[in-house]
Amino acid sequence: MNITDNIAYVGVNDHDIDLFEGQYDVRKNGMSYNSYVVFGSEKVVVTDSVDARFVDEWLGSLEAALAGRTPDYLVVHHMEPDHSAGIATFMERYPQATVVASAMAFKMMAAYFGTDFAGRRVIVKEGSTLELGDRSLTFVGAPNVHWPEVMFSYVPEDKVLFSADGFGKFGALDVEDPEGWACEARRYYFGIVGKFGKNVQAVLKKAAGLDIEHICPLHGPVLSENLGYYLGLYNAWSSYEPEGEGVTIAYSSVYGHTRDAALALAEALEKRGQTVAVFDLARDDMAEAVESAFQYDRLVLASITYAGGIFPHMSTFIHTLAEHAYQRRTVALVESGTWAPMAAKVMRGELEGMKDIAVAENVVTVRGALDDASRAQIEALADELSK
Ligand code: FEO
Repeated sequence: MNITDNIAYVGVNDHDIDLFEGQYDVRKNGMSYNSYVVFGSEKVVVTDSVDARFVDEWLGSLEAALAGRTPDYLVVHHMEPDHSAGIATFMERYPQATVVASAMAFKMMAAYFGTDFAGRRVIVKEGSTLELGDRSLTFVGAPNVHWPEVMFSYVPEDKVLFSADGFGKFGALDVEDPEGWACEARRYYFGIVGKFGKNVQAVLKKAAGLDIEHICPLHGPVLSENLGYYLGLYNAWSSYEPEGEGVTIAYSSVYGHTRDAALALAEALEKRGQTVAVFDLARDDMAEAVESAFQYDRLVLASITYAGGIFPHMSTFIHTLAEHAYQRRTVALVESGTWAPMAAKVMRGELEGMKDIAVAENVVTVRGALDDASRAQIEALADELSK
């Protein structure tokens, strides 16, 4: 696959993986680890490698793409092992090649491979350029998108941005994703990069000064058309702006009464014309629930009272939101508890550490099954959330 006349794709698709980064379920569509070759008139660059299980396949694709040419440089944008596992093997296979990366990336290479390739390396930083003859790479610092060593690079002659994990997406490239780009790119973003909104904003500002026709990420498809759409979503996501109006309802229920309250609230909101997404935190993909909480402007947390606090799945959900810098949203509370309901109080306390969270005035308390009093509270909360 060619991105331009001078840039080829040599990445791999992974359909064996169940959990990406040990926690994100990708069994449905797999994952891609992207690598590219830039052919200059004098020098050839390979960008990044792939996950350890696919290094041989990657080297085979690379050899075919090289068509007899020899790579001069391996540019390492990101050292996480899903992209860096093949570096040492590459360097053995191509003994004339030089590794090009940030200073911090070389420290990580020493940690992973026992060598920082002294004598065969070029350290680059913001604004450094790598000349390939008729083309060049200019490096753009992108610390913490997703690790601190990360750099993007830009090929002005082809208007190509290599964006590391930025603009990445779950899903292999040899399967059609009927949901389109945004759904799995959003789950990927908020799971993996979401905590680092400020860093993403900083690199987006730098990218705004570049003339870009193709964004080449380390996961997911190359983006070549309608780039304003993708950049707009990244701007919203990284600034913690809701992408749209809607209510995410996340619930933890044991005997079904909290679920009944969550579903009754969903129905009441839908009757009022609201978009609603409901998640059972014990059974649905928690990363989807996190994604939805960031996507929409309002969130409802519905939990049983458990051991004087909240149910473990709800606790994990709230902590995951906090870890990912959840902010600037309205949150409503639904609790259940037969003799001493405490969940709303505990959840309110957890929210206090988050920035710009408005807690809805109306709280729903279910003391057993739904009754007239709790149904009235649900209607009042639906009114408040629909204002
Ligand atoms: Fe795809 Fe942060 O590695």
